[in-house]
Amino acid sequence: MKTKIFSCALALTFALTMTAQTHVMEVNTKKVGAPVQNTMYGLFFEDINYAADGGLYGELVKNRSFEFPDHLMGWEAFGNFDVEDDGPFERCPHYVQLRDPGHSDRRSGLSNNGFFGIGLKQGEEYRFSVWARAPHGAGKIIVQFIDRATMGERQEFTEAKLDITSKDWKQYEVVMKSSRTIAKAQLRIFLDGTKGVDLEHVSLFPVNTFKQRKNGMRADLAQALADEHPGLLRFPGGCIVEGVDLQTRYQWKNTIGPVENRPLNENRWEYTFPHRFFPDYFQSYGLGFFEFFQLSEDIGAEPLPVLNVGMACQFQNWNKEEAHVPYDQLQPYIQDCLDLIEFANGPADSEWGKKRAEMGHPEPFNMKFIGVGNEQWDDMYFKRLEPFVAAIKAKYPNIQIVGTSGPDSEGNMFEKGWAAMKKQKADLVDEHFYRPESWFLATPEGKERYGNCGASRYDSYDRKGPKVFAGEYACHGKGKKWNHYEASILEAAFMTGMERNADVVYMTAYAPLFAHVEGWQWRPDLIWYDNLRVFKSCSYYVQQMYAANKGTNVLPLTMEKQSVAGKDGQDGLYASSVLDKNSGEVIIKVVNTSKTPQPVSIQLLGMKGEYTAETLTLSHNGMDDENTLDNPEKITPKQGSLKCDAGKKNTLLLDDVPAMSFRLYKIKK
Ligand code: AHR
Repeated sequence: MKTKIFSCALALTFALTMTAQTHVMEVNTKKVGAPVQNTMYGLFFEDINYAADGGLYGELVKNRSFEFPDHLMGWEAFGNFDVEDDGPFERCPHYVQLRDPGHSDRRSGLSNNGFFGIGLKQGEEYRFSVWARAPHGAGKIIVQFIDRATMGERQEFTEAKLDITSKDWKQYEVVMKSSRTIAKAQLRIFLDGTKGVDLEHVSLFPVNTFKQRKNGMRADLAQALADEHPGLLRFPGGCIVEGVDLQTRYQWKNTIGPVENRPLNENRWEYTFPHRFFPDYFQSYGLGFFEFFQLSEDIGAEPLPVLNVGMACQFQNWNKEEAHVPYDQLQPYIQDCLDLIEFANGPADSEWGKKRAEMGHPEPFNMKFIGVGNEQWDDMYFKRLEPFVAAIKAKYPNIQIVGTSGPDSEGNMFEKGWAAMKKQKADLVDEHFYRPESWFLATPEGKERYGNCGASRYDSYDRKGPKVFAGEYACHGKGKKWNHYEASILEAAFMTGMERNADVVYMTAYAPLFAHVEGWQWRPDLIWYDNLRVFKSCSYYVQQMYAANKGTNVLPLTMEKQSVAGKDGQDGLYASSVLDKNSGEVIIKVVNTSKTPQPVSIQLLGMKGEYTAETLTLSHNGMDDENTLDNPEKITPKQGSLKCDAGKKNTLLLDDVPAMSFRLYKIKK
């Protein structure tokens, strides 16, 4: 990061050149306002865009248990082979038999394509494992990393041999060090000799996963999550919680215990958008609820699991009451919620707490929140939610319940949703808004179309009702621009309104979180990757700037002597401020959405004398520019510092905020 030092002299010259357009702000550093919740800036994980299998989940083999409806999808089998279904794992019964090919030069084997290929790095170690047996006496397999696209002489570049010694099913393992860096390798396994073997749950993980866990996360992607400083992790998604029908809803109980026995589920994002169709997109559940809780703990975020409310996706089942669980048959769904709380928080000798302990975490995860339903609306939802709230509150009065206001950020459905959540005393209400520039800027057009939008949105919210969880949002720029710089600045401007309303906005999350560049269904997204590389969008940096500098309490801020509440920027300038009681820092965030630089003069009421402010600035000229895999740091925040004057009465910060930029100032009291 470059460091830009603004000298005293520069500040003075600057003061002299301040004109009538200088925007005067005042931050009252003595009037400590509402606490900013730790959960304020969070993450929303959904298994969309190959976010789990093929993304964050470190497994490199696709269809490792041969459970896809086409049992050999992702595999190429050759020689004498068969797929059988009486394997050792009840819920994943399929496996492959490799038998004598019947001719000394022939081979029986199979190779796996991974997810858009298998990404390997030179010198890195990979753990190959397989459940196998040799029914006719000890057999041997050869395991190779291969490059089928090579113009070189040999396809294989790394190889290992495994003796399959037992007649009974047993797990075998070998660590292989890749001799090449390659984004699209394949894994090939074949019989060495004539003795047949049976293979099940064929797996390949980097040894170096996040926190070196065996069933772990891809290290660079998990690190990107940690680096965002999230206070919250909502999982496992939105629409996938519901399923297009109840059969395919996300069922957390299927996602815990030994990975070999977690049943496959379809992933609705395989076919939801016919123009982005991915027939090989499934949920292996290898990244399941235990792993989500553990990840939350690892990255310092509060876990917020979302469970099904007895309803399939309402979009897919418009007004079809029969697509959902009858009101008198909701008990198993309610029980799922109660059992989950016990799984997360119960003692290690309780029924569900024991399962957590067996998975390696005897201490509770200390879960505080549960979401019930995603983007559901109308009486169908409200009536179903009631018994969930009653049962959860009766058994776990301290668990906070997150209800939903439906898929829209305004309108009839939304209003009805909020009214129902208030009536049912939900603790928080999840709102979603994927909206254009006009919404984020609250332009006259935006206001006419959407009503309450932009930074002033939360100024008028009822302070006595449930708190807000802005659970999925992103600026969707017009004209097929995705994750471009301009959108991120508008998000930053909007977020000043969330921050100043921290007394009612308790949680927020940009969405979606992850996307594989070759496998996306939805964009924009916060973090993009291929099999070897990752890049963070400009929106990621905006989120990070807020989350890493969220402070502990709101400080009142005025612009031109007027409250910023009820306003959507003044001359395109937006600002909010917080105090961090722990570090003693006053943190001021200023966003300039106008096309010209804006001089600002910020009075720090209650502070005297000179100070040096640390600054962090996201500024860029090309509005349509984006970060990319090839240029991941094209647009990143830059650190600097700025001398603050003693001022006549109070410390005074004078600056020129660049056009279309987001700058924050940190002044240690
Ligand atoms: O984030 C993608 C989808 O958008 C979520 O699954 C759903 O909640 C919303 O409609």
